[in-house]
Amino acid sequence: MRPDPPLYLAPMEGVTDPSFRALSIETNGADSIGAVCTEFLRVSGVPLPEDYLRSELGQTVDGVLHGIQLMGNKADIMAETAIRAASAGAAFVDLNFGCPAPKVYQHRAGSALLDQPQLLEEIVTACVQACPVPVTAKIRAGGTEPSGLVDVCKRVEDSGAVMLTVHARLRTDRYTDPPNWDWITAAKQSVNIPVYGNGNADSLDNIAMMLERTGCDGIMIGRGALQDPLLFRRWADHLQGIKTPDWSDAQITLWLREYHRRMLVGGAKTHQALGRIKHAIKALGQSGKVSAEKLPFALREHDLDDLLARLGLIAN
Ligand SMILES: Cc1cc2nc3c(=O)[nH]c(=O)nc-3n(C[C@H](O)[C@H](O)[C@H](O)COP(=O)(O)O)c2cc1C
Repeated sequence: MRPDPPLYLAPMEGVTDPSFRALSIETNGADSIGAVCTEFLRVSGVPLPEDYLRSELGQTVDGVLHGIQLMGNKADIMAETAIRAASAGAAFVDLNFGCPAPKVYQHRAGSALLDQPQLLEEIVTACVQACPVPVTAKIRAGGTEPSGLVDVCKRVEDSGAVMLTVHARLRTDRYTDPPNWDWITAAKQSVNIPVYGNGNADSLDNIAMMLERTGCDGIMIGRGALQDPLLFRRWADHLQGIKTPDWSDAQITLWLREYHRRMLVGGAKTHQALGRIKHAIKALGQSGKVSAEKLPFALREHDLDDLLARLGLIAN
């Protein structure tokens, strides 16, 4: 049974590559994840080539919508890239108006566009008019304060986007700052298109609470998908009154090894794959699924077997 409202996997740079997306779908079951998306692909001087978009999209899995996220500030170039994203196989194109990275901000892309709602609207309109697949948008609630939130939501809707995700933080907030879910409620109440909530929906309790408090039409799960790689399954089971068993150390080990293997098969360099494994292990440490005490020593290792052994996880 598909969860309704659905859960989507949030785009995460350096995490949600094709290996991670495919593994998440396999681990949780295609019936538990409504959609997945590439990390943001930066669009600047010229449209991105279709081959590149196809390789970033990777292998798709039946039953799960696979999108491509674009980030840029030139409406015509974004629109041409959106057309190519559709040709490359994307089921939808998501537009990033949330990235707070200083470099992105300096280039007036991502969350910087929240301060230029007219340009944001032009970008969404151009992509919607050009692109044969649905266009969605992902925003933060504002730059330094949320006063423009409702205006941005209405512009996204009026421009023809079919869905809006609201990350309930401001550009100036850190990921450790608590999100303000009231901003998701405000967005939901301002438009008729589906509004997805995002920000710390990282456990069964928090997913239930976000749905109840905000009335959102679905949820995007970001870091929770790393902290608990079974979270989507857990939620789908929970809705049917089933308690998903917690993972044993052996299952965590297998999952990490499989993630590592897939990254290498997908062309990642050894150090990149190990870096991403370390990132995943840190997230697992935050949720208590691996020993936080042993983490600092383990993270110094340069080899997967040594790393797992340091954590007391089975080496083979
Ligand atoms: C490592 C990392 C990379 C991210 N990259 C992207 C990205 O490429 N595009 C995007 O829209 N948001 C990106 N985000 C933001 C997430 O999609 C999400 O909005 C944020 O993590 C809050 O959700 P969460 O509390 O469930 O993690 C990123 C977040 C993290 C932690």
